[in-house]
Amino acid sequence: MALQMGVIGYGGRIRGVIDSFIRVLDPAANVVAITDIRNEEIRGELGSAAESIRFYDDADRMLDAERLDGVLIGTRCDMHTPMAIKVMSRNLPMYLEKPVATSMDQVLALHYAAKRYTAPCVVSFPMRLSPLAMKARQLILDGAIGKLEHIQAVNNVSYGSVYFDSWYRDYRVTQGLFLQKATHDIDYVSFIAGERPKLVAAMMSRGRVYGGRKPAGLWCSACDEVESCPESPFWKRKVKGLQPAWRGNEDHPCCFGKDIGDDKTGCNEDSSSCLLQFESGLQAVYTQNFFVRRDAGERGATLIGYDGTIQFDWCKNILKLTRHHEHETISYNMGSEIDGHGGGDIELAHDFVRAMRHRDSGRSPLTAGIQSALVCLTCRTSAERRQFLEVPYPA
Ligand SMILES: NC(=O)c1ccc[n+]([C@@H]2O[C@H](COP(=O)([O-])OP(=O)(O)OC[C@H]3O[C@@H](n4cnc5c(N)ncnc54)[C@H](O)[C@@H]3O)[C@@H](O)[C@H]2O)c1
Repeated sequence: MALQMGVIGYGGRIRGVIDSFIRVLDPAANVVAITDIRNEEIRGELGSAAESIRFYDDADRMLDAERLDGVLIGTRCDMHTPMAIKVMSRNLPMYLEKPVATSMDQVLALHYAAKRYTAPCVVSFPMRLSPLAMKARQLILDGAIGKLEHIQAVNNVSYGSVYFDSWYRDYRVTQGLFLQKATHDIDYVSFIAGERPKLVAAMMSRGRVYGGRKPAGLWCSACDEVESCPESPFWKRKVKGLQPAWRGNEDHPCCFGKDIGDDKTGCNEDSSSCLLQFESGLQAVYTQNFFVRRDAGERGATLIGYDGTIQFDWCKNILKLTRHHEHETISYNMGSEIDGHGGGDIELAHDFVRAMRHRDSGRSPLTAGIQSALVCLTCRTSAERRQFLEVPYPA
């Protein structure tokens, strides 16, 4: 029997997950129902494929009316928790985009709803399931570097303008780039470590690079600097050819606009960092930057034990194991065919297909999503208060 999927929030990300990954694994899997606030637009985008889909403007009505094998939630960040709770109350398998929550109240609401939810949930954390992270985790489990003692994780985001020139600039929706971006990295670091962060200390800088100077509501095309600004599609794309590949030659709101926010209203950070101490005493540091460009982009970690070091980078797709007390360094190249968040998206899709078919629990569970959101929120509070803080895990 073909799998019947419902979608809440049929936007760019979830459509990519369905079309590029779930349908590759199971071509018969069907989106039979969509709840969105852009239904007419989506009908237009899908053309004749929309004829077999029932459209709703209310998620409860869809969930009550349809017999679904699973539901995917791909709304923007602030709506993930309320939509997830609707799906959880029907005990249906769920694919949930990250961050799973954007406030402490949402974290707690999800945590308590999860106590009664027994269906599998796949949280959209592809990095942890990528071949590189899985290899690193396996090497540690095999004792290749001895006991893991120190993690140094880096995310230099070469396409970071997207967090200031698209909907991501709206802090009310994202609640900042710990939740938006670091949620992945804190998750894979915890997954590899096999334990939870206990204590955090964080710092962030805002309004020093992006935001703040130009009038609110300004778009590139109306700006008198359109021919010289490095953020303008005209300059980057047509003159320098430096536009990050996946952002087209699009007009966009100004990255330096006053409407991006400030320290009082909240604002996505230009860069941020955190120290994490895990329950065993293992120490980690993570740092992210949104204004590096081109070859300076990197995302990965250095994992150090007394007997060795593992270093990996998703931008190059390589992992290196250095044995400290042997004349031995081993390099692993994961191959150029890997696509979709370092190969993690197809693994998530695989887990979700199994969740729908067999109710198998996946390798990226709701508990991981809740834990990561909670650590990210604690990092943000630590940065705001300039304090070390214990992560307040609920009972
Ligand atoms: N896991 C990952 O690696 C990854 C990658 C990219 C984006 N994301 C996350 O995916 C989410 C969506 O991002 P996107 O780029 O697809 O955004 P998007 O704007 O393209 O998609 C969001 C969709 O939700 C719909 N929507 C908004 N309010 C709604 C409501 N009340 N009810 C139903 N539908 C509603 C919108 O109309 C839109 O179709 C974000 O939270 C983002 O952080 C995750």
